[in-house]
Amino acid sequence: MNILVTGGAGFIGSNHVRLLLETTTDRVVNLDVLTYAGNLANLAGLEDNPQYRFVLGDITDRQKVREILAGESIEAVVHFAAESHVDRSVEGPEIFVRTNILGTEILLEECRRAKVKRFVMVSTDEVYGSLGNDGMFTENTPLAPNSPYAASKAAADLMCRSFFKTFNFPVIITRCSNNYGPYQFPEKLIPLMIANILEEKTLPVYGDGMNVRDWLYVGDHCSAIDKVMRSGKEGEVYNIGGCNEMPNLELVHLLVDKLGKSRDLISFVKDRPGHDLRYAIDAGKIMNELDWKPSLDFSKGLDLTVAWYVENRTWWEEIRTGEYKKYYQQMYGNRGGHSSGHGDANG
Ligand code: NAD
Ligand code: TYD
Repeated sequence: MNILVTGGAGFIGSNHVRLLLETTTDRVVNLDVLTYAGNLANLAGLEDNPQYRFVLGDITDRQKVREILAGESIEAVVHFAAESHVDRSVEGPEIFVRTNILGTEILLEECRRAKVKRFVMVSTDEVYGSLGNDGMFTENTPLAPNSPYAASKAAADLMCRSFFKTFNFPVIITRCSNNYGPYQFPEKLIPLMIANILEEKTLPVYGDGMNVRDWLYVGDHCSAIDKVMRSGKEGEVYNIGGCNEMPNLELVHLLVDKLGKSRDLISFVKDRPGHDLRYAIDAGKIMNELDWKPSLDFSKGLDLTVAWYVENRTWWEEIRTGEYKKYYQQMYGNRGGHSSGHGDANG
C-alpha cells in the first residue's frame, strides 16, 4: 500500500514512520514543512530506505498535496501534521487555525478528489474538554474544547465528520491521551522535565501540580493508529489511551527520583490559563472491536523514555539552543515561581 504520512518529522509522526518501515512493506511518503517541531534528526538513518520518501511541503499548499497524491498513487493518509502545543496556542492561535483547520480541510478535499481509500485523522482527547474528579471520556462525550489548540483540533474533527456524512469519504478519527517517548520535543511536560533535571535546572510545575493527565507510550499510540487504518470502521471515532492517570506533580517526583536529583528543583509557577483539570480515556471500543491493547505499562515506558533522553543528549541539547531558547524565555520568563530550588528555567 502507498501511505502518505503528514507531519512525519514530528514526535508521533516520526515514530509512526519508523513503525511502518520496520513492520510492513508499505511505501511511506512523509509530507512535512519542518516547523520548529519538525526535525529530520528524528528520521536519521531512513534517508536511503527505498520504501521511504521525504517531501518538504505544507499541507495548506493545495497544489503540492495534489501532486503527491497523484504522483505517488496514495491509497491511505495518516494525518499527524499540526501545531500541537497548548501553551503556544495561548500565545498565538492563528497558526493553529491555519494548519490544523485549513490544512485538514485542504487535505480532505484533495484526498476526496484523488479517491484516497482511507484517511486517518489523528486527533486528541483534549477536544472533549476537562473532566472533574470522576468519569472518563468516551467516543460519545460531547466536544467542549478549552484551549485554542483543542478548539482547532475539534474543528478539524468536525470537518472530517462532515466529509464522511456529506461525501461518504472514508475518514476515521482517533483521539488519544497524552503521549510520551523518544523524539518528543522538549517543550512538553515529560521531556522538558527530564532535560531540566539532567541539567539541574528549575522544574516549572503549573499551578499546584494536581492536574491529571492519562499517559500512553508513543509506540502504543502508533500501533493503535495502524490498527485503525487497516481495520477500523469508516466514519467512526476511536479513543486511544492506556488507563494511566497521574497528577503532574507525582510524575515530576517520579522523574526526579529516577534520575537521582533533588526535589528542591521543583518550582510552582503561574498556572496555564484555561488549564484542563483532568483527562482520562475510556479505550474500551478500540480494545474490544479492534483487539488493540498497550504493550507497555507506565513504569517500563517511563524507564525506556528516561534512558532514551539520557543516551540522546545531543538530540535535545541542539533543540534547546537557538530559536527554542527565545520561546522558552518568552514562555517562562514572566511566569515567576517559588521554590527553595536552584537553577533557572530559561533553557
Ligand atoms: P509535533 O508538534 O511533534 O509534530 C508536528 C509535525 O507537523 C512537525 O513535524 C511539523 O513540522 C509538522 N507540521 C506542522 N505544520 C505543518 C504544515 N502546515 N504542513 C506540513 N507539516 C506540518 O506533534 P506530535 O506531538 O507528534 O503530534 C502529532 C499529532 O498527534 C498532532 O495532530 C496532535 O494533535 C496529535 N496528538 C498528539 C498527542 C501528544 O501527546 N503529543 C496526543 C494526541 C494527539
Ligand atoms: P503538556 O505536555 O503541555 O501537554 P497537554 O497540555 O497537551 O496535556 O502538559 C502536560 C501537563 O503538564 C499539563 O497539565 C500542563 C503541565 N505542565 C507543567 O506543569 N509544566 C510545564 O512546563 C509544562 C510544559 C506542562
